[in-house]
Amino acid sequence: MLAFEALRAVDERDAYANLVLPPLLRKAREKGDFDGRDAALATELVYGTLRRQGTYDAVIAACVDRPLREVDPPVLDVLSLGVHQLLGTRIPTHAAVSATVELARVVLGDGRAKFVNAVLRKVSQYDLDEWIERVAPPYDEDPEDHLAVVHSHPRWVVSALWDSLGGGRAGIEELLAADNARPEVTLVARPGRATTEELLTEEAAVPGRWSPYAVRLAEGGEPGAIEAVREGRAGVQDEGSQLVALALANAPLDGSDSKWLDGCAGPGGKAALLAALAAERGAVLLASEKQPHRAGLVAKALAGNPGPYQVIAADGTRPPWRPGTFDRVLMDVPCTGLGALRRRPEARWRRRPEDLDGFAPLQRGLLRTALDSVRVGGVVGYATCSPHLAETRAVVDDVLKQHPGAELLDARPLLPGVPDLGEGPDVQLWPHLHGTDAMYLALVRRTA
Ligand SMILES: C[S@@+](CC[C@H](N)C(=O)[O-])C[C@H]1O[C@@H](n2cnc3c(N)ncnc32)[C@H](O)[C@@H]1O
Repeated sequence: MLAFEALRAVDERDAYANLVLPPLLRKAREKGDFDGRDAALATELVYGTLRRQGTYDAVIAACVDRPLREVDPPVLDVLSLGVHQLLGTRIPTHAAVSATVELARVVLGDGRAKFVNAVLRKVSQYDLDEWIERVAPPYDEDPEDHLAVVHSHPRWVVSALWDSLGGGRAGIEELLAADNARPEVTLVARPGRATTEELLTEEAAVPGRWSPYAVRLAEGGEPGAIEAVREGRAGVQDEGSQLVALALANAPLDGSDSKWLDGCAGPGGKAALLAALAAERGAVLLASEKQPHRAGLVAKALAGNPGPYQVIAADGTRPPWRPGTFDRVLMDVPCTGLGALRRRPEARWRRRPEDLDGFAPLQRGLLRTALDSVRVGGVVGYATCSPHLAETRAVVDDVLKQHPGAELLDARPLLPGVPDLGEGPDVQLWPHLHGTDAMYLALVRRTA
């Protein structure tokens, strides 16, 4: 029931699963008769159903005698929940069918419950692999369509990820599979405020892979229960984001190194790490964010930073600061988020290729601002949490073409020990290769 309510909210109100679910779980706990195991199951049902929607739609389409768009959305949600239980969990067939039909009776009525029962009985005739054999077009005929059904991604997303990743079938399959796996929770021990040793005393904590400030929590680890996190000395932050901030902070620089800018700072994850690093070096961070309420989140993330910093709400394309002010500038621009699909189960179905056109001018404008804001000899980090080439290399190439006084730096040595960083000079991280979100970073030095 709770999983159904969450799916309806995601469908009807364009809600985010990770925002809708916690209050529903809290309410269920308050009512009683709902424990941690029930919460884990409900979460798995919602996330799993949303992630696998592409595959499940193909299976359901093969079991109903009309186009899926003619099936009422609430009926489709109930069916998808049932299909996920049948094909994506170890719940026994009879339990999956009877629980889903019972749910259908309550939320849809007897007539439609019969329809749900009939469809689920057909679905239960085969397991997931057998269904994929039946409903996915053969790889040799249409590789992208095949992968889209098998790994439940929109075809255009498969295509975009493959363009950026390059290589053959094995790599893209691993990447798409990684998007469907639950990501680990990673913490950052903000330098000068917490240590990894402190975080590693927590149960189920293990060291990060690449960032010296990272600690990973095994399944079930609760960041909110950790004192350093509650006090803001540590935070939840993907290792890819940590690496981006660290690479910018450690890029070689001649001359002054006292003024740093984060021009797209909200909600403040990278700004908090940069501010802590800046404090260790005697530098000041200006954290700027267009949306005032997100600037508020940045202020919260930076509170207690041991060194000086300032948070402002400002449009990065019309900056209030003077050109050439900063030694280091981070522009972590708004993007499609195609690099963080494992965290947002519904995002892949909401995004449209047209979204890229909306971001393109803003991303270019913000990178131009970054280059104008840094002093000659200073360094800009252009970052996205999308690997789409239209948001990464194309933006950097276009802007640098019109800005003769800037050169790309090789970012790879600034991510020491991280393998598989490609030919450079920019870097693209990948969930299946690095265990991080697919963050992109280009480092640019202003030369004139
Ligand atoms: C990818 S997020 C940044 C994430 C952040 N660096 C972090 O690590 O927490 C991009 C941010 O840019 C902000 N933004 C959008 N347009 C902007 C603009 N014109 N100027 C400044 N910030 C902008 C968005 O509100 C969003 O908070």
